[in-house]
Amino acid sequence: MENQRRWPVAIIGSGNIGTDLMIKVMRGSTRLEMGAMVGIDPDSDGLRRAASFGVPTTAEGIEGLLKLPNFKDIKVVFDATSASAHRTNWELLKETGVRVLDLTPAAIGPSCIPVVNMEEHLEETNLNMVTCGGQATVPIVAAISEVAPVRYAEIVSSVSARSAGPGTRANIDEFTETTSEALVQVGGAAEGKAIMILNPAEPPMLMRNTVYALVEGEQDHTALEASIGKMVSKVQEYVPGYQLKQAVQFETFGAENPLYMPGSGEFRGTRVIVMLEVTGAAHYLPAYAGNLDIMTSAAMAVAERWAENSGVESHLTETTLQEVGA
Ligand SMILES: NC(=O)c1ccc[n+]([C@@H]2O[C@H](COP(=O)([O-])OP(=O)(O)OC[C@H]3O[C@@H](n4cnc5c(N)ncnc54)[C@H](O)[C@@H]3O)[C@@H](O)[C@H]2O)c1
Repeated sequence: MENQRRWPVAIIGSGNIGTDLMIKVMRGSTRLEMGAMVGIDPDSDGLRRAASFGVPTTAEGIEGLLKLPNFKDIKVVFDATSASAHRTNWELLKETGVRVLDLTPAAIGPSCIPVVNMEEHLEETNLNMVTCGGQATVPIVAAISEVAPVRYAEIVSSVSARSAGPGTRANIDEFTETTSEALVQVGGAAEGKAIMILNPAEPPMLMRNTVYALVEGEQDHTALEASIGKMVSKVQEYVPGYQLKQAVQFETFGAENPLYMPGSGEFRGTRVIVMLEVTGAAHYLPAYAGNLDIMTSAAMAVAERWAENSGVESHLTETTLQEVGA
């Protein structure tokens, strides 16, 4: 068993996601503490805030992190840069043995959606946290798959353009590919498709997600609603602002009105439509950016579970709450 100290963690990428995650670790984690904040832009808000909180910082990227005197103590590195930067970072990190949680859609390791498959990934060295859209929608597809086979799952994820930094914009293609794969691998759909919208509307819109799932045959609507409702409650345990925007909708396609699917012909069965909204905790950006919370809360939940699994006990956070002015 480990000693009972909190696990020091490092975050690479001092942008929207990295800064939100740092604040969450400092305000809310009972098993983790900030060991380092790593960027490449010395003037970034994230590095400035980290320094003001007394967190060790470097603006020399991964090389700077590896040179920090306390790197040997770091137990988990969160990568919140971009898919291409993560590939480079991983090449250096994998030699060190430190465990890495990838918040970019580089998809080097297996995909993790904590409420669905966290317990299968307690020993990974590189775990892929998919995307914000994936964290919001794959649980719903998994909940539907528990009741009936999902032939096709399509998700549309809309986030405020203001909440998507250059790192997000650099890997939009990877977003769609990685999310589509997770709908299949973790959600259990036979086929998956993801669409992302960076909506520039002002005032900024809350994160919205729509899940369309085609399930074979006549289905028990009550059982589907119950399974989806249970899953929403599980996600709310770490993202309280995650909610159904309206009741689950069902559409039936029978012999007289089949749905034509390009590439695979006629579909007869039920289309399940789930509309979700995610209000953020406003730890960094305002509450419209639920897309930050759904990713950073999921990643933090995994790191905390890893720490717990290694014997780190839960510590109350009153001191750090005061330190960060919460
Ligand atoms: N914004 C979102 O809603 C969201 C949600 C989930 C996942 N993501 C993913 O998180 C990542 C970051 O997104 P963001 O919106 O925070 O972008 P961002 O541009 O605000 O932040 C990225 C940060 O990484 C830094 N960086 C870039 N290359 C680096 C390197 N080699 N070493 C160290 N730092 C480096 C940049 O200077 C910047 O501060 C992206 O991969 C994105 O797909 C974003």
